[in-house]
Amino acid sequence: MRILTVATGTEVGKTYVTAALARALAAHQAVLALKPVESGYDPAAPSDARQLALAAGHPLIPPCYALRRPSSPHLAARLEGRTIEAATLKDWVHQQEALHATTPHVTLIETAGGLCSPLSPRLTNLDLVPLLGPALVLLVVPNRLGALHELHAAQLALATCTAERPWVLLNAPPTPDLATATNAAELLQLGWADAPYVVERGAPLPPPLLPALCTALGLAV
Ligand SMILES: Nc1ncnc2c1ncn2[C@@H]1O[C@H](COP(=O)(O)OP(=O)(O)OP(=O)(O)O)[C@@H](O)[C@H]1O
Ligand SMILES: [Mg+2]
Repeated sequence: MRILTVATGTEVGKTYVTAALARALAAHQAVLALKPVESGYDPAAPSDARQLALAAGHPLIPPCYALRRPSSPHLAARLEGRTIEAATLKDWVHQQEALHATTPHVTLIETAGGLCSPLSPRLTNLDLVPLLGPALVLLVVPNRLGALHELHAAQLALATCTAERPWVLLNAPPTPDLATATNAAELLQLGWADAPYVVERGAPLPPPLLPALCTALGLAV
C-alpha cells in the first residue's frame, strides 16, 4: 500500500511530514520510505532519502535518480546526460518494495519539488499519481498567505488524474502570517478540504491524523 507525498512547491515540508508519518507508522507496522528522485543529492549529507530511511527504521535506500545539482530534477538529470523515465521509476519502486518490505507494509514515497515540477520534458510529479497508484495522496501546503490558491490549483491538477481528493496538510511556515491562523477554517468554509490537518512548527503530526489515516487505509493502529 502506497502513500504519495506531493506539495504545492519545493522546501515546504514534504520530508518533514513524510518522516513524521514514517516514525508514527513504524511503531505499528513495517514502513518503507522512498525518495525516488532527489536533486542536490549528497550521499554524505542528511539527504531526504537518508532522513526518510532513518525515520522508517531501514537502511538508506539511495534514490533511483540521485542527482547532484540542487535544481529542478529535469535540469539536474539533463546536465548529467540522463533522462528521468516513468517506467524506470515505476520498476524501481516495485523493486524496492520486493527487496526491503515485509508484509503487511506501507510504502511512503516523497516526490521531488512541487506537484507540477518537471522530471523530464514529458513527465512531472503529477504523472506519478496514476503511475504509482497510491492508496492516498498527501498534499503539503505551506500555511501562509497564498495557500488557498496554491491548494486549489494543486487539487484541480490532481483531479485530472484521480477521483480521490488528497489529504491536506497545512504545514507551518518558518514565519507565520495573518493567513496562518485562518487558512484551515477557510478551506472548510470553501469546501476545498474535508479535514485539513494543521502541522505546527517543530511539532509532530496532529494527533487525529494517524488514526484517521489508518482507518481510511484499513491499517491497524
Ligand atoms: N513543521 C515544521 N517544523 C519545523 N521545521 C520544519 C517544518 N516543516 C519543514 N521544516 C523544515 O523546513 C525545511 C524544509 O522542509 P522539508 O525539507 O521537509 O521540505 P521539502 O518539501 O521536503 O523540500 P524538497 O522540495 O527539497 O524535498 C527543513 O529544514 C525542515 O526541517
Ligand atoms: Mg524533501
